[in-house]
Amino acid sequence: MDDRNTRFDRRTALTAAATALAAGTVGLTAPAALAAPAVRRFPKGFRWGASTAGYQIEGNSVNADLWVMEHVKPQTFAELSGDADDSYHRWREDIAVMKAIGLNAYRFSIEWSRIEPERGEFSQAQLDYYRRFIAALREAGIEPVVTFYHVAAPRWFAAAGGWLNPESPDLFARYCDRAARQLAAEIGVACTINEPQVGLTYRIMPQSQAYFGKLDEAQQVAHAAAARAMGSDRFVTMNHPDIKGMTPQLMAAHEKGFAAIKAARGDLPTGVTLNLVDFQPANEGSPYGELRKAAYGPWLEVAARAGDFIGVQTYRQVRIPGAGAKLPDFPDMPYVDRAHLEELIKQPEALRNTVEYVHKETGKPIFVTENGLETPDDRRREWYIPQVLKQLHDAIDAGVPVMGYMHWSLIDNFEWLQGFKPQFGLASVDRKTFARKLKPSAAVYRQIIRANAV
Ligand code: BGC
Repeated sequence: MDDRNTRFDRRTALTAAATALAAGTVGLTAPAALAAPAVRRFPKGFRWGASTAGYQIEGNSVNADLWVMEHVKPQTFAELSGDADDSYHRWREDIAVMKAIGLNAYRFSIEWSRIEPERGEFSQAQLDYYRRFIAALREAGIEPVVTFYHVAAPRWFAAAGGWLNPESPDLFARYCDRAARQLAAEIGVACTINEPQVGLTYRIMPQSQAYFGKLDEAQQVAHAAAARAMGSDRFVTMNHPDIKGMTPQLMAAHEKGFAAIKAARGDLPTGVTLNLVDFQPANEGSPYGELRKAAYGPWLEVAARAGDFIGVQTYRQVRIPGAGAKLPDFPDMPYVDRAHLEELIKQPEALRNTVEYVHKETGKPIFVTENGLETPDDRRREWYIPQVLKQLHDAIDAGVPVMGYMHWSLIDNFEWLQGFKPQFGLASVDRKTFARKLKPSAAVYRQIIRANAV
């Protein structure tokens, strides 16, 4: 990796800040570099990190169910994941990026489809691979925060009915047991399942009904094509429309996975990570409270029962209209609508709201395992990071125990159905050479981490 790309100095940060100011973007204030001296101090030992997921960065996840979905016709992906960021080979470059930003924690996922490529067949070499990566993180002073399942499952699992299969919780627990027995000793924090309720939440939200109506039809067709390609009766991935049918198994899988990880190492903080849209009222009579309950209530119960913490992942605030009022439909997923983005970035309080809500409902410590901004204009990210962290600090001040903040994402990556176009990274990745290059927002984040204050 080009070392120059990962080096900053104060001047770089100030120049970036000045550029943002000069741009005079409406509604944006000066980044932390030029603001008054930092006053909000974070707790000692606060985890400062960034997040990624295996399928989105490793590349060539050929045993995964989504790889099958990408290669059938018709399919629902904007482009192929291919080599992704080639992090499978370039993890040392990723660690160099983490060090340049000054992270003390990194959240990533171990890939079930690599560890158990066929049902009941576990790869020791692959477990060793992740063990080496975890050891290298430790060596760099970075705490590994490990997600056991982040959207992509093995293709054999999907062909056996995925999360609609009654055996699925036990299959997941067996994988957690095998992986945890070998890896748990050096892991800092474990997450069982990433956002098992995101599909439910988005299908409950009135503004996204039309979007999912269309998408679900296409998903039915694509999943049927995948079943044909695999020669199986069915093929069920996390993107399958029947998220309601999958939910009981996902809940049982979390509980059994949690138990398996804790059996391997009882003192390892373990929990599930949830996608929390900040539902707020659009006007009087808004049923936002009921919607919240429907979207989150049952999962919060499970997460609190089997969890040392709750992972909160917030990207947006959505206002829910009351009777008689109609708000525009949700823009195309995920965040490509510019006008909507303008709205979103003015709402860094969304994270504070969800953090406080989840803590109030569960009494559990909160870990912000994802939060970030999709934008090709990094000046917005420079603005957003200090703003959202001020809000998070207010939640801490208000009494919420917060274990840490993992920015999504460390590097630009494969954004699922949308392909590589959406950019969330603190660093960019050249699509031909895979060279990582820090963005100015990484300097803003680094300054906050160094001060442990914003
Ligand atoms: C997911 C990530 C995704 C991010 C941005 C989260 O819902 O966990 O995998 O890339 O949002 O869309």
